[in-house]
Amino acid sequence: MPRKGKHSELGEVYTPPKIIQSMIDELKNEINCNEDDFKSKTHTWLEPGFGDGRILYRLKEILLSYGHSEENVLNRLYGIEINPESCKKGILKLYGEGELTEITNQHSKVRRWRHSKWGDVDNLVCSNLFDYEHNFGNTVNLFGNSLFEIEE
Ligand SMILES: C[S@@+](CC[C@H](N)C(=O)[O-])C[C@H]1O[C@@H](n2cnc3c(N)ncnc32)[C@H](O)[C@@H]1O
Repeated sequence: MPRKGKHSELGEVYTPPKIIQSMIDELKNEINCNEDDFKSKTHTWLEPGFGDGRILYRLKEILLSYGHSEENVLNRLYGIEINPESCKKGILKLYGEGELTEITNQHSKVRRWRHSKWGDVDNLVCSNLFDYEHNFGNTVNLFGNSLFEIEE
């Protein structure tokens, strides 16, 4: 977990690939998440504070390896990230290279983008997660790395 002064105020420290893999391996043994969640074509996954999207990207690769289509997987991966630049990086990582056009509603606190290949990206949004209200589906697996700074 980031300490004050060493990293940005938002605690932007990204998780190394080896740790991402062990996190996902451990998920399969959790009481609230198991192999069936990976096999399911309908369960959704949510990462608050997804940074540059590296954990969601690895999860996407794993779900694809279960035979789900790319469209199916992208529709079920959700993320909220407060930093717009990180959010855009995450969208490009998950949806692939392309042009991003901002489509934020004038009165909304939530920023969104359209991807030139995939269209409007509704699942990966830029917002303070504490302000974001959304229905992520009945069977959502919440996972990711921590967000908060330790006060020294
Ligand atoms: C420790 S980093 C982890 C990033 C990513 N999950 C990873 O493990 O690689 C925490 C992330 O949470 C984001 N963040 C911090 N406070 C947030 C908030 N209130 N709402 C949404 N995102 C937030 C930061 O911008 C940062 O990208």
